[in-house]
Amino acid sequence: MPAFDRHIFICTNKRPPENPRGCCDATGLGQLQLEFKKKLAQFGLKNRVRANKAGCLDQCEHGPNVVVYPEGVWYGNVTAEDVAEIVESHIINGVPVSRLQLKPECINTPSCEHRTKPE
Ligand code: FES
Repeated sequence: MPAFDRHIFICTNKRPPENPRGCCDATGLGQLQLEFKKKLAQFGLKNRVRANKAGCLDQCEHGPNVVVYPEGVWYGNVTAEDVAEIVESHIINGVPVSRLQLKPECINTPSCEHRTKPE
């Protein structure tokens, strides 16, 4: 079997509701990852593209977060309704979904305006 063309990492980290950073999967059910798996299977891509559960990707304030490698394209506030568009536009046609992409100045940036400040 050939190597995977892409990996999609979907944060499935769950935190208690009182945590100030929030989390990407408040239900802990991993529904977003399952939706990616389902959509990849529908397009016959499950042997070429892997939808992996990920722990916290440290961009919590923008969650639910997804990152696609090898391109390193980050998506934030992703819902199940966005999955088909990401798969069709980005994974199949190579065009990232710009409306869902995190701004470069937000990724791994402690001064990001969205990041919860320590008390
Ligand atoms: S909980 Fe998902 S990025 Fe931190």
